[in-house]
Amino acid sequence: MGKVVIITGSGSGIGRSIALKFAKAGNRVVINDINQKNGERVLEEIIACGGQGMFVPADISDIDQVKALFKSTMSEFKRVDVLVNNAGVPGGFSFIADMPDETWHKTISVHLTGTFYCIREALKIMMKTKTGRIINIASIAGLMGTVGSGEYGAAKAGIINLTKTCAKESGPFNITVNAIAPGMVGTSINLKLQEKGSLFIETAVKGTPTGRMTTPDEIAETCLFLASGTAANITGQVITIDGGAGTSICMDDFMRDHLIKKSKATGN
Ligand SMILES: NC(=O)c1ccc[n+]([C@@H]2O[C@H](COP(=O)([O-])OP(=O)(O)OC[C@H]3O[C@@H](n4cnc5c(N)ncnc54)[C@H](O)[C@@H]3O)[C@@H](O)[C@H]2O)c1
Repeated sequence: MGKVVIITGSGSGIGRSIALKFAKAGNRVVINDINQKNGERVLEEIIACGGQGMFVPADISDIDQVKALFKSTMSEFKRVDVLVNNAGVPGGFSFIADMPDETWHKTISVHLTGTFYCIREALKIMMKTKTGRIINIASIAGLMGTVGSGEYGAAKAGIINLTKTCAKESGPFNITVNAIAPGMVGTSINLKLQEKGSLFIETAVKGTPTGRMTTPDEIAETCLFLASGTAANITGQVITIDGGAGTSICMDDFMRDHLIKKSKATGN
């Protein structure tokens, strides 16, 4: 019987691809999302392709709901082998000087605090079973400064550091902890924007040496690899999957111009 895998925010986008990938590989998948309809839809897709799983709606920035997510998983499957911390909200896109408090708090609470809550609950189980894999979806924004993404980059940088510390603390328990740092990913939302001629996506793709976005499937494959026996001694690492976009500063000029125009238009 396959592993028990919790994937937060797997009702859409990258998380959905990760959930389908693990399910098709014979694992039992726990889909989590704050969006009930999307989570149920992904579970239906998994069942339709002969996979096994359950959907647990929960807001990962709320500790009681995170505890309930792990409790439901344990009652149904009796173990947690893999945790993929994927849930996230888009950044607020503003200069730090103009950033509203709520933008900062929302992004930090879902990405960073939510990841911490899920890691802590997973460790309680994995440290007893002396086995486990934790995979955190960060971003190249966490590896460099990016104009207009101050709070998002800080949250992702926090996730990267948490990954490294957690790897050191959990290694003796046979638990590996790694992060994946994607550049722009071709989720259905981003593909639709690209079709509509979004200058934001066009600039990002132009500034990517391979000339394309990463596919959600490429992120999912890397998760499957990190959860596999081959990756048993890989821990504390950040795997960047960005077609080389992290080497470019094209988005900074684009975002600076965009935010200056936005400020002038709104008078702020
Ligand atoms: N799409 C990209 O280009 C890209 C690039 C780098 C990193 N990432 C990261 O990948 C992850 C997935 O992004 P995506 O593009 O698939 O986005 P998405 O919006 O399609 O998926 C995120 C999911 O998280 C869920 N979610 C939001 N808040 C939640 C909460 N509090 N509790 C539980 N679920 C919650 C949403 O409902 C959604 O289904 C995010 O962490 C994002 O920061 C995405």
